[in-house]
Amino acid sequence: MKNTFGTSITLTLFGESHGPEIGCVIDGLTPGLRVDEESIERLLARRRPNSDLDTQRREKDPFRIVSGVKDGFTEGTPLAILIPNSDTKKEDYDRFHGAARPGHADYTGYVKYRGFNDPSGGGHFSGRLTAPIVAAGAIVLDALKAKGILVGTHILRLAGIEDRQFGDSETDIALLEAAEYPVLEASCGERMKEAIAKAKAEKDSVGGVLETAIAGLPAGLGEPWFGGVESQLSATLFGIPAVKGVSFGDGFSMADRKGSEVNDCLRYENGKVVHLSNHQGGINGGITNGCPVIFKTAVRPTPTVGVEQQTIVPKTGENTVLSADGRHDPCIAARACPVIDSVAGLVAADLLCQRFGTDWLAQ
Ligand SMILES: Cc1cc2nc3c(=O)[nH]c(=O)nc-3n(C[C@H](O)[C@H](O)[C@H](O)COP(=O)(O)O)c2cc1C
Repeated sequence: MKNTFGTSITLTLFGESHGPEIGCVIDGLTPGLRVDEESIERLLARRRPNSDLDTQRREKDPFRIVSGVKDGFTEGTPLAILIPNSDTKKEDYDRFHGAARPGHADYTGYVKYRGFNDPSGGGHFSGRLTAPIVAAGAIVLDALKAKGILVGTHILRLAGIEDRQFGDSETDIALLEAAEYPVLEASCGERMKEAIAKAKAEKDSVGGVLETAIAGLPAGLGEPWFGGVESQLSATLFGIPAVKGVSFGDGFSMADRKGSEVNDCLRYENGKVVHLSNHQGGINGGITNGCPVIFKTAVRPTPTVGVEQQTIVPKTGENTVLSADGRHDPCIAARACPVIDSVAGLVAADLLCQRFGTDWLAQ
């Protein structure tokens, strides 16, 4: 699918980090959804770098919706969002003299596009392209919220510092909406920031594990086998730059436990099905069971670091050593949270529309 994901609702992404504009086209949105530009701006602001622990590239993201919206409501036609790149500094990358940053997509991008692509700022592979995903996500997250479906992501672990896991998802998602830093326990957020500052001082970077909850999804969404909820979600999550692992519910830790410990027991209570635990993350056989969908995403340490590392210059075929200074996030985890929320919202909306039809979102 290259730069497109989704079935009933699709998103196509385009642009380069240092090109004039980046953007996306969302197709399949039902007519009549409210598009609140303030809400889009709020979510974009959460993705935007805002401290000295983020990249110093400062983009204001003055987005423009150039198609698919009239008088504040979706028209049902393709919805196109454009965001200009203003704060580009190509000279930062000219200093690399064509050296491929280890861990980034400079070498693989060169091979795939035979050197015709612009690698400046990471080009098409840049985390900058997550801004239009977030703008699209904000529209869909609002539509889901109106249907009682809530999405939230926090940093569960960073440089060995642990936040607590989700408890009551709806309460915790509300807590995250009000939080200055995306953690459930504010005190561990401060320690995480200290770890990022230390990595930055060492010209290095750190990664983290994010935990996401999608609360309010009905049972019965998804497909068996290859179209399952885990398959659809993880395929899209792995498209996000720096995502290196996705697990659902208790994930890999289930492999070391007994079946009786990780089964989620079922009861009828007042005529409704209740699960007594949620080790499986709300999915059985690829299909939602009515519990919150819970998943974790591993975000790698930022590849561009100032520490000297061996690499190559693909254009000349030389070996070299690169100390890649410039403007970079010493940690991507916090900025990735609204991106993962957006992907989760877009995939959840797609799953709902696959089952109930695209009009369901506006009903
Ligand atoms: C929000 C966000 C910000 C990012 N910022 C940077 C950055 O400042 N420097 C960098 O080298 N990589 C950054 N990345 C990660 C790279 O884009 C990514 O590692 C690279 O494209 C290679 O892809 P891969 O890690 O998925 O293999 C960022 C990613 C995201 C999602």
